[in-house]
Amino acid sequence: MLILGIETSCDETAAAVIEDGRWVRSNVISSQITLHRKTGGVVPEVAAREHIAKIIPVIDRALKEAKTSLKKIDLIAVTEEPGLNSSLVIGTTTAAIFGLALKKTVVPVNHIRGHIYANWLENKETFQFPIMILTVSGGHNELILMKDYENFELVGETRDDAAGEAFDKVARILGLGYPGGPEIEKAAKKGDPAYFPLPKVMMGEESLDFSFSGLKTAVLRLVQKSFKRNAKFVNNLAASFQDAVTEILAAKLIRAASRYKVKEIHLAGGVSANKILRKKVKEKLETGYLGYTLRYPLNFSFCTDNAAMIAAAGYFKIFSICLRNKM
Ligand code: KG4
Ligand code: ZN
Repeated sequence: MLILGIETSCDETAAAVIEDGRWVRSNVISSQITLHRKTGGVVPEVAAREHIAKIIPVIDRALKEAKTSLKKIDLIAVTEEPGLNSSLVIGTTTAAIFGLALKKTVVPVNHIRGHIYANWLENKETFQFPIMILTVSGGHNELILMKDYENFELVGETRDDAAGEAFDKVARILGLGYPGGPEIEKAAKKGDPAYFPLPKVMMGEESLDFSFSGLKTAVLRLVQKSFKRNAKFVNNLAASFQDAVTEILAAKLIRAASRYKVKEIHLAGGVSANKILRKKVKEKLETGYLGYTLRYPLNFSFCTDNAAMIAAAGYFKIFSICLRNKM
């Protein structure tokens, strides 16, 4: 089964063709990052105008790279929410028009489910439920218990910023570029994570919720107090901040996994690209002799927004409806 995925929820215009929910035939992303770098963040009107200009060429390229055509597509999956309304509407309208004109089924997909299904892309292995998923992106920071393909339970979430948002804001405070996550990761490689003792807010021994506002304010205070904001200071602060955020995320994921007795733990969303986060989770599994299978997207391009993950989520949505109705 060939699925065309379309993603326009924020600042990437993306289209992809995948086969049977897992195998990526093409994954085209037209990024607006250089456009939004000037403003240090996404301006919705600017993003929407760019989606309008790029959507058709991006879909054309995805079909061409997959050596297929619209006629051969079995299903169209499109991000329906959450995201910027003015951006989402470009993708959903395009999908609806193609669906109507070509008599194809259009499956609306939740963007976060898309990030979750990114872990299935190009993966040959059999997944074991239940799975505890840490979804960490620019707009979302949740712990989700996945009981089976379409059965999800929210067990923890952020009370303020999402981890990616905190990375972006701290990068701006430190005078680093946009998006902040990769810039902080790069600067942190040259810094000492133990240099600044920043607060690792766990919100008590039981909580599965997150809060990053105290950590962000602590970084801001250090910057305001410092006289020498040289590269060494920035690198050490970037490393200390990354260490604190990833420590909180990894510890809460393990806490949630043991509470719900899952078989697997997954990282999903833009921040799942962070190597220190992956390392910390692995270390906790090893030191605690914990047997959960750890998964994150097999390709870095599957971590941040892309349309292959939307196509995968669309496929599994239809697949689970068929399973339920024994079709
Ligand atoms: O999933 P995503 O592409 O978009 C949303 O759905 O929000 O995530 C983007 C977020 C940004 O905040 C970005 O700074 C963060 O993911 N990010 C990272 C890394 N790569 C992207 N954060 C930490 N380390 C990274 N390597
Ligand atoms: Zn996303």
